[in-house]
This record gives sequence, structure tokens and C-alpha cells, in this order.
Amino acid sequence: MEAVVYQGENDVAVEEVDEPEIEHPNDVVIDITTTCICGSDLHMYEGRTAAEPGIVFGHENMGVVEQVGDAVSTIEEGDRIVLPFNVACGFCQNCEGGYTGFCTNVNPGFAGGAYGYVAMGPYKGGQAEKLRVPYADFNALKLPEGNEHEDSFSLLADIFPTGWHGTRLANLQPGESIAIYGAGPVGMMAAYSAKLQGASEIYSVDRVPSRLDMVEENCDAIPINFEDGDPVEQIKDAHGGGVDKGVDAVGYQAIDPETDPGSDAYDPARENPAVVLNQLIQTVRPTGELGIPGLYVPSDPGAPDEMAAQGRLGIDFGKLFEKGQRLGTGQCNVKQYNRRLRDMIIEGRADPSFVVSHRVGLDEAPDMYEAFDNREEGVTKVLLEP
Ligand SMILES: NC(=O)c1ccc[n+]([C@@H]2O[C@H](COP(=O)([O-])OP(=O)(O)OC[C@H]3O[C@@H](n4cnc5c(N)ncnc54)[C@H](O)[C@@H]3O)[C@@H](O)[C@H]2O)c1
Ligand SMILES: [Zn+2]
Ligand SMILES: [Zn+2]
Repeated sequence: MEAVVYQGENDVAVEEVDEPEIEHPNDVVIDITTTCICGSDLHMYEGRTAAEPGIVFGHENMGVVEQVGDAVSTIEEGDRIVLPFNVACGFCQNCEGGYTGFCTNVNPGFAGGAYGYVAMGPYKGGQAEKLRVPYADFNALKLPEGNEHEDSFSLLADIFPTGWHGTRLANLQPGESIAIYGAGPVGMMAAYSAKLQGASEIYSVDRVPSRLDMVEENCDAIPINFEDGDPVEQIKDAHGGGVDKGVDAVGYQAIDPETDPGSDAYDPARENPAVVLNQLIQTVRPTGELGIPGLYVPSDPGAPDEMAAQGRLGIDFGKLFEKGQRLGTGQCNVKQYNRRLRDMIIEGRADPSFVVSHRVGLDEAPDMYEAFDNREEGVTKVLLEP
């Protein structure tokens, strides 16, 4: 079958790979109907992780069950399912507590497993025609049959729950104000979640005009372009002081607004891995809360300095202490949210599909990786249909 395979820095190719098989009686194999490219894939794509060539990418997967292991009891051939990007066992201490992003059984020596991702276990990615799903009874979320809401349901694998998770980590309450750094797919889903949860004011910070337009139109967010001036000042001026809550939907490859924009193109030389965390500490009021779903890594081969290469950042902890702020971070535990978000989609209460800009065949993956990596205007969320 065909799959998207990592070749090395800024290079993926569609290659012929072995078809997955049932390896354990709890597995199912699905025919992929939709699989998405994620901002998290870009860290690997750019060579900014320990990922080695040969990885089949793809952690945002949905499809139709094609083979069922003997011990699977709730899933049948033909069922339409979406998988959390987390691979989880369901019975370790963390899974029992709902922290399925930190399962201690699926990736020995590490807390957390995922499909198609460096350091997250042996699980092949789903940017392919088929995918093996371990612990299938636990991991699969069933969907109504047919192809209705295909775009929205595919976003249940990661970004809709992850955006929601950002607002929950910040403990957003109805009527509160919130600033969200990053208007990529995750930041947009955080802004949309804030709207659904009744935030009074939502500020979205980015530099890509089409992304800011989209978040303004669909999430009633106030767009803040950080190339136009210090975003902290812009938000405080508009709001009249610090906001209640903040979300980092950017992560360690953040662009420092103080650096020279040069051109519109994405420029790694402008990165400063601590900049968004420090801006959030400034933007949020004393005793406010910060949700940090943006990705940070313990080792970054392309870091701007030696400390950052070991994931050690210059964070204004003194300011955080002085302001008595609290923060939460980490991988999203997708299962905590995906069932309820699915039902909001089915009942017409939520439609996150506005974020989708492209649905293309697998063969277009190399071009789409390049365009999405450049944060090209109008390329927000790319779905692949093998
Ligand atoms: N915690 C989780 O479970 C989880 C899940 C999915 C994605 N992520 C992470 O979330 C982050 C965002 O993912 P995405 O798919 O939206 O990726 P993305 O790279 O498309 O979006 C990031 C956006 O941040 C903007 N940006 C860069 N510097 C900025 C700054 N200083 N201030 C404000 N905006 C800035 C970029 O222009 C871009 O639009 C990534 O780090 C990704 O790895 C985490
Ligand atoms: Zn993802
Ligand atoms: Zn577990």
C-alpha cells in the first residue's frame, strides 16, 4: 500500500510499504478515509526532532474497520471510527485517571504513545491506505455510518480536542476573557472552544493574515498581528489591562516579534523558544491561568542555543510567581473530550470544519507538507484522502 514516509529534513515521499496486519487479538485494521497533516508533524518534517528517516507519518486518523482481532468485543467490520492520536491501553494508572496521553503500557520507558511520531512507540502512522489500531475497544470512537461530517469528525483525532484542552488547562469560565497565541489549526480550535464555552472576549495572535481573518470570522476573535507591534501591548490596550486566561498554541518554534520580519516567509532564524510563554505571563492578569498545549521538547537538534537544545528555556518564573499564575501543559488526553465533542457535531452545536482548507489525495502530500510548513496564505488544515 502507499504511505507518506519521512526521508529527512524537509522531505517526505509517498512510498510503497507493507500492509498492516492484526498483531494482537485486541487489534483492528482500518481503511483510512481521512488522515490529516498536523503542525506537530512539521517539527519532525523540519528535522527539529530525533525522528529518523523511514517513519510513516500520520497521527490524526479515521476510517472504516476492515479486519477485527479475535478478542475485540465492541467493534465490527464496517464500523466507521476515529482514533485519538494517543495510543493508550485503558488500564494503567494514568489511563484509569483519564490521562490517556500518558499511558505507561504502550511505549515502555515512556509515558505516552502515538501513531507515526518520534519517541511515541512503534505504531505506524495513518497517512497511508490502512492502519493497525491497538487496544481497539478502548481507543476507537464510533461514528454514525456514511460520510456525513467527515471533515469535522477527522478533527476529533487531535486538534478539536487539543484546542478544547488548551482552554480547560487554563480553566476558562463563562464570561472570562482569553488570549490565544497562535492561530494555526490548534489555536483556531482553542478560540472556537473558547467561543463555545462562553468567553466574553477572545484575542488571537499570529502573523498570517488569512489565519487571523479565519479566526475572526468563525470564532468572533479579535485578531492581533504581532508584526504590527508588541502583542502584549496591543491586547492590554484593547482590553484595558491583563486578560483572565491565556493559551499557548505555538510551542517551541515560536517566532520572536522583536526580530526583523525581512520577508513574509517563515524564517527559523527568527525563533525564540521562550517568547510566547513570557508573553503569556505578561498578557494574563495576576492569579490568571495559562494553558500550554503548544509543543515543547527535551531535545531540539536545531535550537538557537545550547540550553534550548536540551529543552531548557529562559522563562520569567519570577514574574509568574509574583503574579501567582497557574499553568497546565502536556499532550492532550483526547479521550477526555472526543465523545462529547462528537455529539456536539452530530447535534449541530459545533462545526469545526471551517478550519479545513484542503482535502487532497495522498500523492499530493509532499507538496502540501511544503506549503503548510511555509504557513502559506490560505493553507490552514490539510486533509489527505488515500
Ligand atoms: N499538546 C498536544 O496534544 C498537541 C496536539 C497537537 C498540536 N500540538 C502543538 O500545537 C502547536 C500548534 O499546532 P498547529 O497545528 O496549530 O501548528 P502551526 O505551526 O500551523 O501553528 C502555529 C502558529 O503559530 C504562529 N506563531 C509563530 N510564532 C508566534 C508568536 N510568537 N505568537 C503568536 N503566534 C505565533 C504561526 O504563524 C502559526 O500560524 C504545535 O507546537 C503543535 O506541535 C500539541
Ligand atoms: Zn496532530
Ligand atoms: Zn495506559
